[in-house]
Amino acid sequence: MPLSKDALWYKDAIIYQVHVRTFHDSNGDGIGDFQGLEKKLDYLQELGISAIWLMPFFPSPLRDDGYDIADYNGVHSSYGTLEDFRKLLEAAHERGIRVIIEMVLNHTSDQHPWFQEARSSRENPRRDWYVWSDTDARYKGARIIFLDTETSNWAWDPISKSFYWHRFFSHQPDLNYDNPAVREQMWNVMKFWLDMGVDAFRLDAVPYLVEREDTNCENLPETHNILKELRRKLDEQFTGRMLLAEANQWPADLRPYFGEGDEFHMAFHFPLMPRMFMGLKLEDRKPITEILQQTPEIPPSCQWSLFLRNHDELTLEMVTDMERDYMYDMYAENKTMRLNLGIRRRLAPLLNNDRRRVELMNGMLMSLPGTPIIYYGDEIGMGDNISLGDRNGVRTPMQWSGGKNGGFSGAEAERLCAPLIQDPVYGYPAVNVLAQRESEHSLLRWMQRIVTVRRSTGVFGRGSIEFLHAANHRILAYLRRLGKEAVLVVNNLSNSAQAVELDLQRYKGNILIEMFGNNIFPRVGELPYLLTMGPYQFYWFRLRRV
Ligand code: NOJ
Ligand code: CA
Repeated sequence: MPLSKDALWYKDAIIYQVHVRTFHDSNGDGIGDFQGLEKKLDYLQELGISAIWLMPFFPSPLRDDGYDIADYNGVHSSYGTLEDFRKLLEAAHERGIRVIIEMVLNHTSDQHPWFQEARSSRENPRRDWYVWSDTDARYKGARIIFLDTETSNWAWDPISKSFYWHRFFSHQPDLNYDNPAVREQMWNVMKFWLDMGVDAFRLDAVPYLVEREDTNCENLPETHNILKELRRKLDEQFTGRMLLAEANQWPADLRPYFGEGDEFHMAFHFPLMPRMFMGLKLEDRKPITEILQQTPEIPPSCQWSLFLRNHDELTLEMVTDMERDYMYDMYAENKTMRLNLGIRRRLAPLLNNDRRRVELMNGMLMSLPGTPIIYYGDEIGMGDNISLGDRNGVRTPMQWSGGKNGGFSGAEAERLCAPLIQDPVYGYPAVNVLAQRESEHSLLRWMQRIVTVRRSTGVFGRGSIEFLHAANHRILAYLRRLGKEAVLVVNNLSNSAQAVELDLQRYKGNILIEMFGNNIFPRVGELPYLLTMGPYQFYWFRLRRV
């Protein structure tokens, strides 16, 4: 399957987030690698996804799993060579799969030669590439993000005897974006990968590029200007590439990241995600409809990216204090499941391994406006391991089979980069790709099906949304429309059977075609349209005038 030629390909994409390190080990050293991932592209093609997002694979001391980069123009030797990466890129493209890589703009590792030079003396020409201070009292308005490990955004450098600024771990010094040389260098890094043929970047931690006194040092106009400059260069020199913003912000603060269609093509919808979990627990559509109603329109060439889980904690930064307490009570009873302002668990355990809830959440992920991202392993219902530190519990090796090391690696178990999940419910003997491929009713087969149905129409990726305000608030119903096409989505957020009456007067005379089975439901008549739904059931209907 060739790559689609459409410059707006990201609007119709289904993205699969994958960690090279934990996906598949091809040479038996216990660490996943590019060749291993390449071997599994057939699997991803079968799943039906159209893009992969690779977590950082650059040389790094791996103190933040690669988000601490020591060289932007190379690859970590455990994962293979640059040539291996090129081959992976080519092999993905041959299958019609685009490749999104990480661009960590905000900070480097303290092991990066730039920082080593910068700290070597106050006179070093690279000194100004980072943010230094004689006191730790500046920029007091900036919050601390990694609350469980850091107590300040300043760290003391004993070599040059001054403080340096860092928004994340203290081993991740922030680059100084007021310095034009830094801006130019980072564009050169992006160009290096774009020239090689990568399709897109997920730009990490973009709100924090610039610091200013008496502000919270997030989303500053200066930061937006820098991002716009990168976009301008991208548009001048390349076509069909995409920039995806990681900006964990409220909708109103997220909106400027799209600019007038001249900044990011895409941005994660962080505030929506926890509200999908809330709506499910409360058995009420309100958290979801409310946040989407507060979400401003975005320029036509732009797109939201939606997700249920990723490699980080399920972030609760974009909820109120009360909502956060509720989420903790409902989804992280055990305090070790909590990290910073979030919950470090995977999708299936969060949903009590309830297949109906897993399907419903994926159904919403695939039918609400935006491009869905599937986190590796969630398509088979993998579990997590909260006894591993930091966010490592949700980054365990992919479970391919019930065989040795779950088919991830031929290495001795002691040499694996991370232990496999072993517990009786989620362990690899019980949850794995091989078994689920063979079972017609497995989650994996169901995921393949929903991906196919989603891809059968452009309406989910590109259409408008309109909520239907049925009296039964346990039902979340919306119309997605694009040109002449209309799809009705109805979700039962509750654990019991429900009836709902929907006002479909506008579609009087239409029939409803259920999209998974292509079966015809009764024609819309004079009366409100009555549907009955089982617990956590959802429907997607095409509306047809025949
Ligand atoms: C956001 C990434 O998702 C997270 O994993 C990382 O630790 C921080 N940025 C710092 O780079
Ligand atoms: Ca390996």
